[in-house]
Amino acid sequence: MEKAVIIYASTHHGSTRKLAEAIANQYGIHLIDATKQQEADLSAYDLIGFASGIDFGKFYEVVEQFLEDNLPENKRVFFLYTCAKVSNRFTETIKTAARKKGAVILGEYGCRGFNTYGPWKMIGGMNKGRPSAEELQGAVRFFESLLQQ
Ligand SMILES: Cc1cc2nc3c(=O)[nH]c(=O)nc-3n(C[C@H](O)[C@H](O)[C@H](O)COP(=O)(O)O)c2cc1C
Repeated sequence: MEKAVIIYASTHHGSTRKLAEAIANQYGIHLIDATKQQEADLSAYDLIGFASGIDFGKFYEVVEQFLEDNLPENKRVFFLYTCAKVSNRFTETIKTAARKKGAVILGEYGCRGFNTYGPWKMIGGMNKGRPSAEELQGAVRFFESLLQQ
């Protein structure tokens, strides 16, 4: 199998980490928590994923910074995210940063994640129980499809 890694930040409720872990449990790939580790040599990886919760329409700053600092030129990359409500615009900014490194963008997978931002906190949060078991399986299937590309 190709050598793969997912760099993630999942600081709100750990929802995005669940997506990354579902894939890692199935395929034994490496995970890097970008909030704990800011540097890594990614040159040996064939497939590099960036995973994040969404903060005001974008990936967390720490994930984008990790990409800017560590992504080698011309790598095959993919994106995972959890959010309040899915939108393909959430990856726009990080995709632009990846393209500056000549990355080949393979695809993205996003789903809902538990959200207690602002007023949601008072009513027990939004998207309780998400990502669901099906959504975690969806992330694994998405990764599988990348291996076949
Ligand atoms: C400060 C803040 C801003 C957020 N902004 C957005 C947003 O713009 N769009 C959205 O769909 N979700 C937004 N969310 C919801 C989170 O992206 C969602 O809960 C996500 O699952 C968090 O991922 P994590 O638990 O892996 O950190 C926001 C949450 C917080 C706390």
